[in-house]
Parts: sequence; C-alpha cells; structure tokens
Amino acid sequence: METFIRNIPKAELHLHIEGTLEPELMFAIGERNGVELRFGSVEDVRRAYEFTNLQDFLDIYYEGAKVLQEEQDFYDLTWAYLTKVHEQNVRHVEIFFDPQTHTDRGIPFETVVSGIHRALGDAETALEMSTGLIMCFLRHLSAEAAMETLEMALPFKEWIIAVGLDSSEIGHPPEKFVEVFDRAREEGFLTVAHAGEEGPPEFIWQALDFLKAGRIDHGVRCVEDDRLVERLRDEKIALTVCPLSNVKLCVFDAMEQHNLKQLLDLGLRATVNSDDPSYFGGYMNANFLAAQRALGLEKEDIYRLVRNSFEAAFVGEERKEALIQELDEYMEGAA
Ligand code: HPA
Ligand code: ZN
Repeated sequence: METFIRNIPKAELHLHIEGTLEPELMFAIGERNGVELRFGSVEDVRRAYEFTNLQDFLDIYYEGAKVLQEEQDFYDLTWAYLTKVHEQNVRHVEIFFDPQTHTDRGIPFETVVSGIHRALGDAETALEMSTGLIMCFLRHLSAEAAMETLEMALPFKEWIIAVGLDSSEIGHPPEKFVEVFDRAREEGFLTVAHAGEEGPPEFIWQALDFLKAGRIDHGVRCVEDDRLVERLRDEKIALTVCPLSNVKLCVFDAMEQHNLKQLLDLGLRATVNSDDPSYFGGYMNANFLAAQRALGLEKEDIYRLVRNSFEAAFVGEERKEALIQELDEYMEGAA
C-alpha cells in the first residue's frame, strides 16, 4: 500500500506556497535579505508549530513570510516545493499565493507573481508537470483591499487561472466578497473559496451562491447539512480536503476521526491535499499515508481520491484526459 501511494500519479489542488516555507529556507532567505526573525534557530521555529486553531497558525505563517522580498526568493520557494512533489509523482499542481501578505509590506505585486510564475514555467518544461496559479484574498482584510489587489493582478491575468479566499474564516463570511468575485469572473478568472473548515455549512452555501465557487477548499463541515451534501454531489463540486492540516488545527481531534472516507462514501468529489506542508507535518504522500492508515482506505479509495483531483483540475480537456489515462495505466500495472 505504501509503495502504491508513493508511486500513484497525483494532483495537488490546495497548496499555499507561503506554507511550503521550510524553517531552513526561512533562515537562509532571511539571512541574505537581512531580516531579523523572532526565532533564534530552526529548532525554535519547529517548536513554535503547536497550533490549536487556524488563527494560532496564521500568526506564525504571516511572520515567516516576512523574509520573502526579492523575485528570486519567490522563485526559490516555489521551486523547492515543485521539486519535492515531483519526487512524489505529483503530475499537476494548482498553487495559491497570498499577494496581500507581501504587498502590505511594500513588496511589489510583480515581484511576487514573477518569481512564482517563472518557477511554474520551469516545472512545466523540466519536470513535465502541468501547473496553475490561484490568487487568494485575505478575508480578514476588507473587500476594498481585495478589490485593489484584483486590480493589481489584471496586468498579469494570463498567469493566474482563478481567485480564492483564505485566512481567518470565523467572522468573515464569503458574502463580504461578492463584488470582488463578480468582477473577477467578469475578468475571466475561475473562483474557489475556503469554506467549512472552521466555519459553518452556511459559509459553503454562500461560497456557491454568492462567489460561484467551482471548488470548495476544505468543506469538511458540509456533512452537518444533508441538503448541502446533495447540492455538492449533484453539481460535482470538488472538496479540496487537507487531512494533516485538519488534525494539526484541531478541526478533527485525531486522524481516526477525520471524515474523508465518509465524504467519499457520500459520493462527494473529495480530494487529498497538503495545505501548508511545512507547518502541518507533511507533503502529499504523507497526507495520503496518514489518512490511509487511520481510516483503513483501500486502493480503490485512493484511486477515487486521485481521480477526483484530476477531474476537478482547472486544466484543458486534453491534459485532463492524459492525466486520467496515466492513472488508469498505473492501476492496470498495479493490479
Ligand atoms: N485556511 C485558511 N487560510 C489559510 C490556510 C487554511 O487552511 N492556509 C493558509 N492560509
Ligand atoms: Zn488552505
């Protein structure tokens, strides 16, 4: 089973690039930019990763991101992630970035997006991966600030496939961002949103009805509402579930309590993703392995999770079919 999981071709659809910043790279980039961290050492950083909720995590995550200043920093961060997941046979990635975390510190939007985009381009040629970039708005900031960020992104819109919504969910319902998402869709962006991680099922309804989200990031609390489950199933809305993140942030007390298997059995388009792997204890394979062990997933479940991610990917039909074919050939070989 472990070899089967390591080698199966897969896609990652819920990954915050700032959340891949490993402590070693945080220190290396911090040093070359002369940025003082409030942590003394790599071990101090790792010791601080004792989160009990989303906000505890976000406070440290925004702190770490302060070392990122130059285009090359964003390139190095993204490239480190891409080479790592390439070794895990991740064939397609869609990466979130949080421009406001950087522009609010005076880093130009162009610096951020150029470094990430250049690394994604290199992955397409050198690693034969397909890639997409999704710009997230920080929901704890105002709708006006999100609109300004959207306007900054317009000159780069060929590089960005979708917009999303992340950061502190409680107190910041999706409806706050209706106008921004309307404008984003007019400009040709697809839409996704974090909802139903800590927030109630009502926020998932709002993400669908007000933001026209094509996928829901996390969405695990949908099971509290039968009508919502029906809607997600009927409309084949994917849920980008992040097992290790959910346990680390205490959305579930333990992996054995995670509802990933239940979501699959309800016929929902659940997928497995790593969210912020540097902070939550593992990349794609670690997420699959932890969930498989705790929930007793069968090969057929793993296949379904991966297939769901290919079906839900924001790529052209041709690439999608090629990925699914690669997966089916892998399954035939593994049988
Ligand atoms: N939820 C909300 N905001 C985030 C997350 C998350 O899982 N990761 C990074 N920003
Ligand atoms: Zn997330």
